Amino acid sequence: MIVSAMSQPDTKPYPDTLEINAARLLGRIESFAKIGQGPGGGITREGFSDADLDARAALIGEARACGLEADVDAAGNILIRRAATGPDPAHRKVLMMGSHLDTVVNAGRLDGVYGVLAALEVLQVLAESGTDLPCEPVAVAFANEEGALFPQPFWGSMALAGRLEELPAQPCDHDGHSLRAPLARAGGNLDELESAVWPTGSVAAYLELHIEQGPVLERAGRQIGVVDAITGRAVLTVQVTGASGHAGTTPMDHRRDAMVAAARMVTAVEHASKEDGLCRVATVGRLETQPNSPNSIAGTARLTIDLRDTDPGRLERVEATVRDAIRVIAEQTGTRVDYLATTRSTPVATAQELRAAITRSAEELGLTHRTLPSGAGHDAQMVADIAPIGMIFVPSIGGVSHVPEEDTSPADLVSGAQVLLRTVLRV
Ligand code: GLV
Ligand code: MN
Ligand code: MN
Repeated sequence: MIVSAMSQPDTKPYPDTLEINAARLLGRIESFAKIGQGPGGGITREGFSDADLDARAALIGEARACGLEADVDAAGNILIRRAATGPDPAHRKVLMMGSHLDTVVNAGRLDGVYGVLAALEVLQVLAESGTDLPCEPVAVAFANEEGALFPQPFWGSMALAGRLEELPAQPCDHDGHSLRAPLARAGGNLDELESAVWPTGSVAAYLELHIEQGPVLERAGRQIGVVDAITGRAVLTVQVTGASGHAGTTPMDHRRDAMVAAARMVTAVEHASKEDGLCRVATVGRLETQPNSPNSIAGTARLTIDLRDTDPGRLERVEATVRDAIRVIAEQTGTRVDYLATTRSTPVATAQELRAAITRSAEELGLTHRTLPSGAGHDAQMVADIAPIGMIFVPSIGGVSHVPEEDTSPADLVSGAQVLLRTVLRV
Protein backbone atom coordinates (compact mmCIF):
# COMPACT_ATOMS: atom_id res chain seq x y z
CA MET A 1 0.00 0.00 0.00
CA ILE A 2 2.84 2.38 0.84
CA VAL A 3 4.89 2.50 -2.28
CA SER A 4 8.47 2.47 -3.49
CA ALA A 5 10.75 4.28 -1.10
CA MET A 6 9.14 2.77 1.98
CA SER A 7 10.40 -0.67 1.09
CA GLN A 8 13.70 0.73 -0.23
CA PRO A 9 14.55 3.42 2.28
CA ASP A 10 17.70 4.43 0.45
CA THR A 11 15.98 5.30 -2.83
CA LYS A 12 15.49 9.03 -3.28
CA PRO A 13 13.23 9.66 -6.25
CA TYR A 14 12.81 13.38 -5.44
CA PRO A 15 15.29 16.22 -5.14
CA ASP A 16 17.09 16.60 -1.83
CA THR A 17 17.06 20.32 -2.36
CA LEU A 18 13.36 20.79 -1.57
CA GLU A 19 13.02 22.75 1.63
CA ILE A 20 10.19 24.26 3.53
CA ASN A 21 10.10 28.05 3.78
CA ALA A 22 11.03 28.56 7.45
CA ALA A 23 10.11 32.25 7.63
CA ARG A 24 6.72 31.61 6.07
CA LEU A 25 5.94 28.75 8.46
CA LEU A 26 7.07 30.64 11.56
CA GLY A 27 5.22 33.76 10.40
CA ARG A 28 1.99 31.82 10.04
CA ILE A 29 2.43 30.23 13.47
CA GLU A 30 2.85 33.74 14.90
CA SER A 31 -0.24 35.08 13.20
CA PHE A 32 -2.49 32.15 14.15
CA ALA A 33 -1.34 32.55 17.78
CA LYS A 34 -3.21 35.86 17.83
CA ILE A 35 -6.54 34.21 17.00
CA GLY A 36 -8.37 33.68 20.28
CA GLN A 37 -5.53 35.06 22.36
CA GLY A 38 -6.56 36.48 25.74
CA PRO A 39 -4.93 39.31 27.72
CA GLY A 40 -2.72 36.84 29.64
CA GLY A 41 -1.34 35.40 26.41
CA GLY A 42 -3.26 32.11 26.55
CA ILE A 43 -5.28 31.08 23.51
CA THR A 44 -8.91 29.96 23.79
CA ARG A 45 -10.14 28.61 20.50
CA GLU A 46 -12.56 25.90 21.51
CA GLY A 47 -13.90 23.84 18.62
CA PHE A 48 -16.73 25.65 16.77
CA SER A 49 -16.40 28.79 18.93
CA ASP A 50 -16.14 32.20 17.22
CA ALA A 51 -12.35 32.16 17.59
CA ASP A 52 -12.16 28.71 16.02
CA LEU A 53 -14.30 29.93 13.13
CA ASP A 54 -11.85 32.83 12.69
CA ALA A 55 -8.90 30.44 12.59
CA ARG A 56 -10.68 28.20 10.11
CA ALA A 57 -11.42 31.16 7.85
CA ALA A 58 -7.80 32.30 8.11
CA LEU A 59 -6.55 28.86 7.09
CA ILE A 60 -8.89 28.66 4.12
CA GLY A 61 -7.83 32.19 3.13
CA GLU A 62 -4.11 31.31 3.34
CA ALA A 63 -4.59 28.16 1.30
CA ARG A 64 -6.57 29.86 -1.43
CA ALA A 65 -4.17 32.80 -1.52
CA CYS A 66 -1.40 30.43 -2.51
CA GLY A 67 -3.45 28.77 -5.22
CA LEU A 68 -4.56 25.69 -3.29
CA GLU A 69 -8.11 24.39 -3.08
CA ALA A 70 -9.76 24.36 0.34
CA ASP A 71 -13.06 22.66 1.11
CA VAL A 72 -15.03 21.86 4.24
CA ASP A 73 -16.67 18.46 4.66
CA ALA A 74 -19.96 17.80 6.45
CA ALA A 75 -18.20 17.23 9.79
CA GLY A 76 -16.38 20.57 9.51
CA ASN A 77 -12.97 19.18 8.55
CA ILE A 78 -10.99 21.49 6.26
CA LEU A 79 -9.33 19.65 3.37
CA ILE A 80 -6.67 21.41 1.32
CA ARG A 81 -5.32 20.05 -1.94
CA ARG A 82 -3.55 21.17 -5.07
CA ALA A 83 -5.53 21.88 -8.17
CA ALA A 84 -5.43 18.67 -10.21
CA THR A 85 -1.91 17.86 -11.40
CA GLY A 86 -0.16 14.75 -12.62
CA PRO A 87 -2.06 11.49 -12.75
CA ASP A 88 -5.81 11.92 -12.29
CA PRO A 89 -6.31 12.40 -8.53
CA ALA A 90 -9.42 10.26 -8.71
CA HIS A 91 -7.13 7.32 -9.46
CA ARG A 92 -4.52 8.11 -6.87
CA LYS A 93 -4.65 7.31 -3.21
CA VAL A 94 -4.29 10.24 -0.87
CA LEU A 95 -1.35 10.97 1.37
CA MET A 96 -3.00 12.88 4.19
CA MET A 97 -1.19 15.09 6.68
CA GLY A 98 -2.47 17.51 9.29
CA SER A 99 -3.83 17.96 12.80
CA HIS A 100 -6.35 20.37 14.39
CA LEU A 101 -6.87 24.13 14.82
CA ASP A 102 -9.07 24.10 17.92
CA THR A 103 -7.58 24.44 21.41
CA VAL A 104 -8.38 23.83 25.05
CA VAL A 105 -9.23 26.81 27.29
CA ASN A 106 -6.18 29.05 27.90
CA ALA A 107 -3.94 27.00 25.63
CA GLY A 108 -0.52 27.48 24.08
CA ARG A 109 0.20 28.44 20.50
CA LEU A 110 1.31 25.12 19.01
CA ASP A 111 -0.88 22.16 19.97
CA GLY A 112 -2.58 21.14 16.73
CA VAL A 113 -2.14 24.29 14.68
CA TYR A 114 1.59 23.59 14.20
CA GLY A 115 0.80 20.32 12.41
CA VAL A 116 -1.84 21.97 10.24
CA LEU A 117 0.38 24.88 9.21
CA ALA A 118 3.33 22.56 8.54
CA ALA A 119 1.08 20.41 6.33
CA LEU A 120 -0.01 23.54 4.45
CA GLU A 121 3.63 24.54 4.07
CA VAL A 122 4.58 21.11 2.68
CA LEU A 123 1.71 21.26 0.22
CA GLN A 124 2.72 24.74 -0.86
CA VAL A 125 6.37 23.69 -1.39
CA LEU A 126 5.25 20.71 -3.48
CA ALA A 127 2.98 22.95 -5.54
CA GLU A 128 5.58 25.69 -6.05
CA SER A 129 8.24 23.21 -7.09
CA GLY A 130 5.82 21.33 -9.35
CA THR A 131 6.66 18.08 -7.57
CA ASP A 132 4.25 15.28 -8.36
CA LEU A 133 3.92 12.27 -6.10
CA PRO A 134 2.46 8.82 -6.65
CA CYS A 135 -0.12 9.72 -3.99
CA GLU A 136 -2.09 12.94 -3.90
CA PRO A 137 -0.96 15.01 -0.89
CA VAL A 138 -3.85 16.51 1.08
CA ALA A 139 -3.60 18.71 4.18
CA VAL A 140 -6.35 18.44 6.77
CA ALA A 141 -7.48 20.47 9.77
CA PHE A 142 -9.69 18.16 11.80
CA ALA A 143 -12.67 19.74 13.56
CA ASN A 144 -12.99 19.78 17.35
CA GLU A 145 -10.09 17.53 18.31
CA GLU A 146 -10.02 18.81 21.89
CA GLY A 147 -13.72 18.68 22.68
CA ALA A 148 -13.34 21.68 24.98
CA LEU A 149 -16.72 23.28 24.31
CA PHE A 150 -18.58 20.45 22.57
CA PRO A 151 -17.53 17.41 24.62
CA GLN A 152 -16.98 15.16 21.61
CA PRO A 153 -13.18 15.13 21.20
CA PHE A 154 -11.93 13.81 17.83
CA TRP A 155 -15.26 14.83 16.29
CA GLY A 156 -13.90 15.43 12.79
CA SER A 157 -11.45 12.55 12.63
CA MET A 158 -14.06 10.12 13.99
CA ALA A 159 -16.41 11.19 11.20
CA LEU A 160 -13.70 10.90 8.55
CA ALA A 161 -12.78 7.43 9.84
CA GLY A 162 -16.42 6.33 9.71
CA ARG A 163 -17.07 6.06 13.45
CA LEU A 164 -20.46 7.72 13.03
CA GLU A 165 -22.34 5.35 15.30
CA GLU A 166 -20.09 6.42 18.19
CA LEU A 167 -20.93 10.10 17.70
CA PRO A 168 -23.99 11.43 19.52
CA ALA A 169 -27.01 11.92 17.26
CA GLN A 170 -27.73 15.29 18.90
CA PRO A 171 -24.32 16.68 19.91
CA CYS A 172 -24.53 19.56 22.40
CA ASP A 173 -22.07 21.81 24.19
CA HIS A 174 -21.66 21.90 27.98
CA ASP A 175 -24.68 24.19 28.27
CA GLY A 176 -26.93 22.06 26.12
CA HIS A 177 -26.70 24.13 22.92
CA SER A 178 -26.85 22.03 19.78
CA LEU A 179 -23.83 21.68 17.49
CA ARG A 180 -26.13 21.99 14.48
CA ALA A 181 -25.89 25.76 13.94
CA PRO A 182 -22.17 26.21 14.79
CA LEU A 183 -21.33 23.29 12.50
CA ALA A 184 -23.36 24.87 9.71
CA ARG A 185 -21.57 28.20 10.28
CA ALA A 186 -18.28 26.32 9.86
CA GLY A 187 -19.49 24.94 6.52
CA GLY A 188 -20.57 21.50 7.77
CA ASN A 189 -23.92 19.76 7.89
CA LEU A 190 -25.08 17.52 10.75
CA ASP A 191 -27.51 15.68 8.49
CA GLU A 192 -24.86 14.66 5.99
CA LEU A 193 -22.04 13.29 8.14
CA GLU A 194 -22.03 10.12 6.06
CA SER A 195 -20.54 12.13 3.19
CA ALA A 196 -17.47 12.97 5.34
CA VAL A 197 -16.49 9.31 5.68
CA TRP A 198 -13.42 8.09 3.79
CA PRO A 199 -13.37 4.38 2.99
CA THR A 200 -10.62 2.11 4.24
CA GLY A 201 -7.85 2.04 1.66
CA SER A 202 -8.52 5.49 0.20
CA VAL A 203 -5.73 7.00 2.30
CA ALA A 204 -2.30 5.49 1.60
CA ALA A 205 -0.87 7.03 4.76
CA TYR A 206 -1.65 9.71 7.34
CA LEU A 207 1.18 11.77 8.83
CA GLU A 208 0.73 14.06 11.83
CA LEU A 209 3.43 16.43 13.02
CA HIS A 210 2.85 17.62 16.59
CA ILE A 211 4.67 19.02 19.59
CA GLU A 212 5.50 16.29 22.11
CA GLN A 213 3.65 17.99 24.99
CA GLY A 214 5.85 16.10 27.47
CA PRO A 215 9.49 16.15 28.63
CA VAL A 216 10.98 13.06 26.96
CA LEU A 217 12.71 14.59 23.92
CA GLU A 218 14.01 17.60 25.81
CA ARG A 219 15.44 15.44 28.60
CA ALA A 220 17.02 13.09 26.09
CA GLY A 221 18.40 16.00 24.08
CA ARG A 222 16.81 14.72 20.83
CA GLN A 223 15.38 16.89 18.08
CA ILE A 224 12.81 14.53 16.55
CA GLY A 225 10.44 12.03 18.12
CA VAL A 226 9.25 9.01 16.17
CA VAL A 227 5.98 7.98 17.79
CA ASP A 228 5.44 4.24 18.15
CA ALA A 229 2.04 4.22 19.89
CA ILE A 230 -0.69 6.60 21.03
CA THR A 231 -2.41 6.23 24.37
CA GLY A 232 -6.05 5.15 24.65
CA ARG A 233 -8.58 7.26 26.42
CA ALA A 234 -12.13 7.29 27.79
CA VAL A 235 -13.79 10.66 28.35
CA LEU A 236 -17.03 10.67 30.35
CA THR A 237 -19.21 13.73 30.91
CA VAL A 238 -21.20 13.14 34.10
CA GLN A 239 -24.17 15.11 35.40
CA VAL A 240 -24.93 14.82 39.12
CA THR A 241 -28.39 15.95 40.24
CA GLY A 242 -29.13 16.60 43.91
CA ALA A 243 -31.28 19.29 45.51
CA SER A 244 -30.37 22.92 45.96
CA GLY A 245 -31.28 24.61 49.24
CA HIS A 246 -30.36 27.07 51.99
CA ALA A 247 -26.85 26.64 53.45
CA GLY A 248 -27.97 27.82 56.89
CA THR A 249 -31.30 26.09 57.38
CA THR A 250 -31.08 22.71 55.63
CA PRO A 251 -30.02 20.09 58.22
CA MET A 252 -27.00 18.03 57.26
CA ASP A 253 -29.04 14.82 57.20
CA HIS A 254 -31.57 16.37 54.84
CA ARG A 255 -29.19 17.22 52.06
CA ARG A 256 -28.65 15.86 48.58
CA ASP A 257 -25.58 17.94 47.86
CA ALA A 258 -24.33 17.64 44.28
CA MET A 259 -21.06 19.43 45.19
CA VAL A 260 -20.23 16.83 47.85
CA ALA A 261 -21.08 13.98 45.50
CA ALA A 262 -18.92 15.49 42.74
CA ALA A 263 -16.02 16.09 45.14
CA ARG A 264 -16.05 12.43 46.17
CA MET A 265 -16.17 11.44 42.51
CA VAL A 266 -13.10 13.57 41.79
CA THR A 267 -11.11 11.81 44.50
CA ALA A 268 -12.42 8.39 43.40
CA VAL A 269 -11.09 9.07 39.91
CA GLU A 270 -7.68 10.10 41.24
CA HIS A 271 -7.63 7.07 43.55
CA ALA A 272 -8.31 4.67 40.68
CA SER A 273 -5.04 5.65 39.03
CA LYS A 274 -2.81 6.93 41.81
CA GLU A 275 -3.57 4.46 44.59
CA ASP A 276 -5.05 1.46 42.76
CA GLY A 277 -2.87 1.77 39.65
CA LEU A 278 -5.76 0.83 37.38
CA CYS A 279 -4.69 3.18 34.57
CA ARG A 280 -1.72 5.36 33.72
CA VAL A 281 -3.41 8.71 34.42
CA ALA A 282 -6.91 9.84 35.46
CA THR A 283 -8.14 13.43 35.55
CA VAL A 284 -11.22 15.48 36.31
CA GLY A 285 -10.41 18.69 34.45
CA ARG A 286 -13.79 20.33 34.34
CA LEU A 287 -16.27 20.76 37.18
CA GLU A 288 -19.21 23.09 37.11
CA THR A 289 -21.86 23.39 39.80
CA GLN A 290 -25.22 25.16 39.98
CA PRO A 291 -26.15 27.56 41.35
CA ASN A 292 -22.49 28.02 42.42
CA SER A 293 -23.44 30.44 45.15
CA PRO A 294 -21.66 30.69 48.55
CA ASN A 295 -24.68 30.15 50.75
CA SER A 296 -26.64 27.68 48.65
CA ILE A 297 -26.31 23.92 48.46
CA ALA A 298 -25.34 22.80 44.96
CA GLY A 299 -28.30 21.33 43.09
CA THR A 300 -26.36 20.01 40.13
CA ALA A 301 -22.75 19.36 39.19
CA ARG A 302 -21.22 18.43 35.89
CA LEU A 303 -17.76 16.94 35.55
CA THR A 304 -15.60 15.42 32.84
CA ILE A 305 -13.53 12.35 33.62
CA ASP A 306 -10.49 11.58 31.44
CA LEU A 307 -8.94 8.11 31.85
CA ARG A 308 -5.86 7.05 29.84
CA ASP A 309 -3.81 3.92 29.32
CA THR A 310 -2.01 2.15 26.51
CA ASP A 311 -3.67 -1.19 27.35
CA PRO A 312 -7.29 -1.45 26.13
CA GLY A 313 -8.15 -4.09 28.76
CA ARG A 314 -6.95 -1.89 31.59
CA LEU A 315 -8.85 1.05 30.13
CA GLU A 316 -12.06 -0.98 30.06
CA ARG A 317 -11.56 -2.15 33.63
CA VAL A 318 -10.78 1.28 35.05
CA GLU A 319 -13.84 2.75 33.35
CA ALA A 320 -16.01 0.01 34.89
CA THR A 321 -14.43 0.61 38.32
CA VAL A 322 -14.96 4.37 38.12
CA ARG A 323 -18.58 3.92 37.02
CA ASP A 324 -19.14 1.58 40.00
CA ALA A 325 -17.60 4.10 42.39
CA ILE A 326 -19.79 6.84 40.96
CA ARG A 327 -22.92 4.72 41.39
CA VAL A 328 -22.05 4.03 45.04
CA ILE A 329 -21.30 7.71 45.74
CA ALA A 330 -24.63 8.69 44.17
CA GLU A 331 -26.45 6.21 46.42
CA GLN A 332 -24.63 7.46 49.51
CA THR A 333 -25.37 11.12 48.73
CA GLY A 334 -28.94 10.71 47.48
CA THR A 335 -28.02 12.12 44.11
CA ARG A 336 -28.73 10.92 40.58
CA VAL A 337 -26.09 10.43 37.91
CA ASP A 338 -26.54 10.75 34.15
CA TYR A 339 -23.79 10.16 31.60
CA LEU A 340 -24.19 12.93 29.03
CA ALA A 341 -21.36 12.03 26.66
CA THR A 342 -18.77 9.30 26.32
CA THR A 343 -15.87 9.19 23.88
CA ARG A 344 -13.49 6.27 23.76
CA SER A 345 -10.32 6.03 21.73
CA THR A 346 -8.36 2.83 21.66
CA PRO A 347 -4.58 2.77 22.00
CA VAL A 348 -3.01 2.38 18.56
CA ALA A 349 0.40 1.62 17.14
CA THR A 350 1.88 3.63 14.29
CA ALA A 351 2.87 1.84 11.05
CA GLN A 352 6.34 0.36 11.11
CA GLU A 353 7.03 1.53 7.52
CA LEU A 354 6.15 5.09 8.39
CA ARG A 355 8.30 5.00 11.52
CA ALA A 356 11.19 3.84 9.32
CA ALA A 357 10.52 6.59 6.77
CA ILE A 358 10.42 9.28 9.48
CA THR A 359 13.61 7.96 11.09
CA ARG A 360 15.44 7.87 7.76
CA SER A 361 14.27 11.40 6.93
CA ALA A 362 15.52 12.73 10.28
CA GLU A 363 18.88 11.02 9.73
CA GLU A 364 19.27 12.48 6.25
CA LEU A 365 18.71 15.91 7.73
CA GLY A 366 21.31 15.26 10.42
CA LEU A 367 18.73 15.44 13.19
CA THR A 368 18.95 13.40 16.38
CA HIS A 369 15.88 11.29 17.09
CA ARG A 370 14.31 8.73 19.38
CA THR A 371 11.23 6.56 19.48
CA LEU A 372 8.59 7.30 22.10
CA PRO A 373 4.90 6.75 22.82
CA SER A 374 2.38 9.61 22.91
CA GLY A 375 0.63 10.25 26.21
CA ALA A 376 -1.67 12.75 24.52
CA GLY A 377 -4.50 11.82 22.19
CA HIS A 378 -4.32 12.69 18.49
CA ASP A 379 -6.58 12.59 15.44
CA ALA A 380 -4.13 10.05 14.03
CA GLN A 381 -5.52 7.38 16.32
CA MET A 382 -8.93 7.72 14.67
CA VAL A 383 -7.49 7.82 11.16
CA ALA A 384 -5.69 4.56 12.09
CA ASP A 385 -9.04 2.82 11.52
CA ILE A 386 -8.75 3.42 7.77
CA ALA A 387 -5.05 4.01 7.05
CA PRO A 388 -1.50 3.44 8.27
CA ILE A 389 -0.47 6.34 10.49
CA GLY A 390 2.83 7.98 11.36
CA MET A 391 3.54 10.71 13.90
CA ILE A 392 6.49 13.07 14.20
CA PHE A 393 7.13 14.91 17.48
CA VAL A 394 9.29 17.93 18.21
CA PRO A 395 10.47 18.83 21.74
CA SER A 396 8.27 20.86 24.09
CA ILE A 397 10.20 23.38 26.17
CA GLY A 398 9.84 22.37 29.82
CA GLY A 399 7.64 19.50 28.70
CA VAL A 400 4.46 21.54 29.23
CA SER A 401 1.30 21.78 27.14
CA HIS A 402 -2.35 22.85 27.43
CA VAL A 403 -0.98 25.98 29.14
CA PRO A 404 0.02 29.37 27.67
CA GLU A 405 3.71 28.58 28.36
CA GLU A 406 3.64 25.72 25.85
CA ASP A 407 6.46 26.32 23.36
CA THR A 408 9.07 24.84 21.05
CA SER A 409 12.18 26.54 19.70
CA PRO A 410 11.87 27.96 16.16
CA ALA A 411 14.72 25.71 15.03
CA ASP A 412 12.89 22.60 16.23
CA LEU A 413 9.62 23.76 14.62
CA VAL A 414 11.41 24.14 11.31
CA SER A 415 13.21 20.79 11.68
CA GLY A 416 9.92 19.01 12.33
CA ALA A 417 8.41 20.47 9.17
CA GLN A 418 11.50 19.46 7.16
CA VAL A 419 11.12 15.91 8.41
CA LEU A 420 7.44 15.97 7.45
CA LEU A 421 8.31 17.16 3.92
CA ARG A 422 11.01 14.57 3.47
CA THR A 423 8.78 11.80 4.80
CA VAL A 424 6.03 12.83 2.40
CA LEU A 425 8.54 12.58 -0.45
CA ARG A 426 9.60 9.10 0.71
CA VAL A 427 6.22 7.44 0.96
C1 GLV B 1 -5.70 15.96 23.31
O1 GLV B 1 -5.22 17.06 23.09
C2 GLV B 1 -5.46 15.35 24.56
O2 GLV B 1 -6.04 15.82 25.55
O3 GLV B 1 -4.65 14.43 24.64
MN1 MN C 1 -4.44 19.21 23.03
MN1 MN D 1 -3.20 18.26 19.69
